[in-house]
Amino acid sequence: MMNKGRVVIGLILSVAVVAAFTLAYAATKMPEQDITILSKDVFKEPKKGPVVFPHPKHKALKCTDCHHEYKDEKNVWQEGQEVKKCSACHKLEADGKVVKLEKAYHDQCVNCHKKVKVEKKPTGPTACTKCHPKSTGGDDKEEEKK
Ligand code: HEC
Ligand code: HEC
Ligand code: HEC
Ligand code: HEC
Repeated sequence: MMNKGRVVIGLILSVAVVAAFTLAYAATKMPEQDITILSKDVFKEPKKGPVVFPHPKHKALKCTDCHHEYKDEKNVWQEGQEVKKCSACHKLEADGKVVKLEKAYHDQCVNCHKKVKVEKKPTGPTACTKCHPKSTGGDDKEEEKK
């Protein structure tokens, strides 16, 4: 009886360990499908709605162009490490040097697309509604003309 019990516990434990590793692994590789960015934890009442982000279109970049974790002002995050959500650190309002989540995304995504556009290379969207297609905001038209 005793032995059977141990075997069962051993089995349960090994299944749990394998599951944990699978999850950790799944969260370190660059997703091959488009992901939808919707930070419900921070934007409780989003004005603009979800944004589709295609990792594969950004293959030419380094992971660390977007993913970071700072220690003594240096980015210590490396490919293969777990990827935390931007909203794990960037919140509704800025906290010192940690800009608010909305600015974090816009500074990263929009600024790069604008920079690449100036260089006349293929780039990503810079108009509000191209990233936020479900948006009904009136402030989009102005940006759309640029
Ligand atoms: C390159 C893509 C991109 C463009 C262009 C862009 N955004 Fe965003 N925006 C994002 C992403 C990504 C988020 C984060 C969404 C989330 O985490 O839920 C975001 C978040 C927001 C938020 C906060 C969340 C919400 O829905 O309330 C607002 C407001 C917003 N954007 C407005 C705008 C406006 C206005 C423009 C045009 C001037 C614009 N965005 C252009 C990608 C973009
Ligand atoms: C152009 C910017 C950019 C580049 C380059 C980039 N990522 Fe991402 N990645 C993101 C954003 C934005 C998210 C969504 C974060 C969130 O939901 O908070 C994300 C999410 C992830 C996730 C989590 C996916 C999920 O479904 O939870 C993993 C894993 C990941 N990236 C790995 C990588 C790896 C590995 C590389 C390099 C080979 C890479 N990324 C390159 C912007 C980028
Ligand atoms: C582990 C915490 C953490 C995560 C996760 C994180 N950030 Fe940051 N981010 C920081 C900190 C801290 C800084 C400030 C660094 C400094 O200047 O010392 C920063 C700075 C930035 C900046 C530069 C601020 C500026 O001047 O505009 C941008 C843009 C940014 N993050 C976007 C993102 C995006 C987009 C994601 C998700 C793909 C993300 N961050 C994930 C902690 C984080
Ligand atoms: C460091 C530069 C950089 C950053 C950061 C970046 N992008 Fe891009 N993005 C590009 C470039 C360059 C392309 C064009 C790639 C190509 O077509 O070869 C692109 C393409 C795209 C496309 C595809 C457009 C199409 O016509 O299919 C989308 C959507 C997009 N980006 C969204 C985002 C979002 C959302 C973020 C922020 C989470 C982001 N990008 C961050 C450089 C960047």
